[in-house]
Amino acid sequence: MAEEQAFSSPTVELIEACVAAAVAAHPLVGSGDKMAVDAVAVDAMRASFNAFDFGGIVVIGEGAKDEAPMLFNGEVLGRGETRDWDIAVDPIDGTRLAAEGVPGAVAVVAASEFGSMMNCPDVYFMHKLVAGPAARGVLDLDLSVAENLHRLAKSLCKPISELTVAVIYKKMNYELIEQVQAAGARWHRFDEGDVAMAVAAATPGSGIDLMIGIGGNPEGVLAAVAVQVLGGFMQGRLAPRNDAEVDSALARGYSPEQKLELDDLVRPGRNVFVLAGVTSGVLADEVNVDSDGVARVEVFVLDSTISGHQKVLRVA
Ligand code: FBP
Repeated sequence: MAEEQAFSSPTVELIEACVAAAVAAHPLVGSGDKMAVDAVAVDAMRASFNAFDFGGIVVIGEGAKDEAPMLFNGEVLGRGETRDWDIAVDPIDGTRLAAEGVPGAVAVVAASEFGSMMNCPDVYFMHKLVAGPAARGVLDLDLSVAENLHRLAKSLCKPISELTVAVIYKKMNYELIEQVQAAGARWHRFDEGDVAMAVAAATPGSGIDLMIGIGGNPEGVLAAVAVQVLGGFMQGRLAPRNDAEVDSALARGYSPEQKLELDDLVRPGRNVFVLAGVTSGVLADEVNVDSDGVARVEVFVLDSTISGHQKVLRVA
């Protein structure tokens, strides 16, 4: 593991909060109880944030999607006097994976300068198209899957048959998966947890060239923070499920037809993204507890003030 950078605020606070959530969740990995896994991680993350002197406001929280009483949208975090940061949290992305004890569960948080994150909490889903820096100005959500794959292959100088395309395996994406396969690319199946997969798609050399498909809207904004830091490509479009969600998007100034560019999802500026492995995954390994009860947590860090991603090991 590379020598650790000296992190500043809010990266320090985000790392601690993520580690706290991952460590708290660990004893319940494989328990079968996804609500319990989520609850302990939420508690631990919130307590960790509130022990620090910084100040942030939850823009992407647990509240809207899971009707959770803590880390809800609009909650103020930290003991600081000022509210410098928009905060996005997902104490466990892939709660089912954690509960079943299978790979892909992570704890994840992000911070951006106040007022930078898209705030449209009542729409649950979003169409997403995410790739690395080479795809900027090349791909477009309005093009067909085949055309996007053709363009991506060209920009990466490899045949379509060597493209690995991650699509979350949900009913709403079945057609897309068929289109990816019909175009000749390799489908990388994953069942939950599209934050880590989106970040992998934006990271050259990760083995994932593209992530496409409908997943959570909050997860989309979280991933967008990472994609900003990585200089990658991302577009999204809200996918409201009913009239109430359409109305709530419009009330926030977002049309469901609107193609959201990366800068619409999260503005450029100071952006920090932190992810800790809970079970093993594409960006970080699982929490490891030794016979003395000491937990080792692998953390993936992106901070716009530091070039490239960092991987750090925290002992708790
Ligand atoms: P949770 O861990 O909060 O359940 O989210 C897991 C997840 O797979 C996300 O990564 C993804 O964006 C979202 O669910 C998709 O939502 P749904 O499972 O409702 O289709």
